[in-house]
Amino acid sequence: MVSRVIPVDPFDLVIFGGTGDLAQRKILPALFRRYCAGQWPADVQIIGAARGNHSPDKFREIVARSLHEHVPNRSKDTETLSGFLQRINYVPLDAMSENGWANLAGRLKDDRIRAFYFSVGPSLFGPLAERIRAHDMVTKHTRIVVEKPFGHDLDSARTLNATLAAHFDEGQIYRIDHYLGKETVQNLMVVRFGNMLFEPLWNSQYVDHIQITVAETVGIDGREEYYERSGAMRDMVQNHLMQLLCLIAMEPPAKFDPDAVRDEKLKVIRALDPVEPHHIVRGQFAPGPDGLGYREVVGNPRSTTESYVALKAHISNWRWAGTPFYLRTGKRLVARSSVINVMFKDAPHSIFGEEAGRHANALSIRLQPNEGITLKVTIKEPGPGGMRLIDVPLDMSFAEALGPENQDPPDAYERLVMDVIRGNQTLFMRGDEVEAAWAWTDPVIAGWQARGDVPKPYESGSTGPGDAELLMKRDGRLWQGIKP
Ligand code: BG6
Repeated sequence: MVSRVIPVDPFDLVIFGGTGDLAQRKILPALFRRYCAGQWPADVQIIGAARGNHSPDKFREIVARSLHEHVPNRSKDTETLSGFLQRINYVPLDAMSENGWANLAGRLKDDRIRAFYFSVGPSLFGPLAERIRAHDMVTKHTRIVVEKPFGHDLDSARTLNATLAAHFDEGQIYRIDHYLGKETVQNLMVVRFGNMLFEPLWNSQYVDHIQITVAETVGIDGREEYYERSGAMRDMVQNHLMQLLCLIAMEPPAKFDPDAVRDEKLKVIRALDPVEPHHIVRGQFAPGPDGLGYREVVGNPRSTTESYVALKAHISNWRWAGTPFYLRTGKRLVARSSVINVMFKDAPHSIFGEEAGRHANALSIRLQPNEGITLKVTIKEPGPGGMRLIDVPLDMSFAEALGPENQDPPDAYERLVMDVIRGNQTLFMRGDEVEAAWAWTDPVIAGWQARGDVPKPYESGSTGPGDAELLMKRDGRLWQGIKP
C-alpha cells in the first residue's frame, strides 16, 4: 500500500526559536521528510528566526547537521538536501525588542499561507504575538502554532489564551499535542468509528474497565529544570494521556471536522470526576543498576517531583458510569510501550460450567512501538478431554498487515505541520479543552502540595511503584504487562 501525498499550497513558515532543540530535532526534520515526499510546491519559504546573529548560510549549515543526525538516509542525497536548504532562510530577531522585525516582515509574501511556529517558552508567546500584529503581519491566511506546555495550571493557561486571543482568532491558533499527530492515535478514531464491530460494545454495559499506559524508558536528562517544575502529571497526564482518554471515551462526532471532534473531547473532560486522593499513586525513580535516581539527576536530594503517576478516573456520563479508566505513565520504566487495553466483562453465564474458569475478551491497541491491535478471544483447547477453554490472541501488526512501506510511519510532526499549512485544526487542542484539562489536573496537584505528599520510590528499569499494583488489586484487577 503506497501512501498518497496530497500537495499543499505555497507557504511561508517562520520558526521562532529556529536554532533551538525542538526545531532542529523535530520540526525541520519533519519538514524535510515532507519535502522528500514531494508534498510541497516549488515556491515555499522557511525562515528560521532566533536571537543568534547567524548568516542564512550558517543557519543552513546548522540545519544540514541536524538533518544528517535525524534523517540520515534521506539527507545523504545531496541534490535533495540542497533543494531543501535553498528554501531555508534566517533572520536574527529579538522577541523583546524591535531588532529584526522589519527585516522579517519584508521577507513574507502577501496573499499566501503564512504560519508562525512559536518554538519557544510560553513566556515569549505574548511578546511574539504582539510584534507580529504590530508589524502588520496578520493576514486572513495567517496561523500560529504553539507548543506545550500550554501553561502550568488553569490560571496561566487562561492568561495565555487571553494573550493570544488579543491578537488572533481561535481559528488561527494551533496548539500542538504531538500525540494527536501519531498515526496510531488517529487510528483510535478509525478503529472506533470506522468499524461496526466495536462501537455497540463500547460502554459500561460491556466494558469492565480501560487501561491506558504510556511507559517510557527515557529519563529526564537535559530537561531537569523544566521537569522539576512540571512532573509527570503536568508533563504527560494533563495533555497526552488526557487526549488518549478523550479519543477512547468520546461520543461519535457527527463529522471528522475540527469543532465536531473537539466538542466531543471537551464533553469527556468536563464529565471527569475529581480524582480521589486514594485513587492516585505518585512515584519517583530511585537509583537502579542502569542509572542514577531522579534526585541525583536533578541534583536535589529532597525533590518531591513525580516521574510516575497511576490513577483511577471516572467519567460521569451515561456511557461510562461504573467503568473506571486506569491511567499510568512513568519515566525509566522497564520498556517503552504505549498501549490502551479495553477489558470487556465476563460472559454473563458460562454454559461450560465452573471448571471452564472465567474468560473475558480484551482489545489491546498498541500505539508504539510495534503498532497494532490484538483481540483476546476464548476458544476450545484442542484435543480430547472435555471442554477446556483457553484465551488466544487475534493479533494484527499494522506493519505486517499493511506491507513493508508502512513499517516506518511518518513522525507526528510531519502530519501536524502539514495540517497547519492545510488549515485543518482537527488534531490540535482548542483553548477551552486545554483549560478544562487543567481544571481537572490542578486540584490533584494542589492536594499533593497541601498534604506534603512524597512520591513512592521505584527502581529504574521496573514497572513502577508497588502501590500502583495495589490500586488495581484493591478493585480485583491487574495491570496488563509493560512489554516492548
Ligand atoms: C513530551 C514530554 O511531550 O512527550 C516528554 O514532555 C515525553 O517528557 C514525550 O518523553 C513522549 O513523547 P513520545 O513521542 O516519545 O512518546
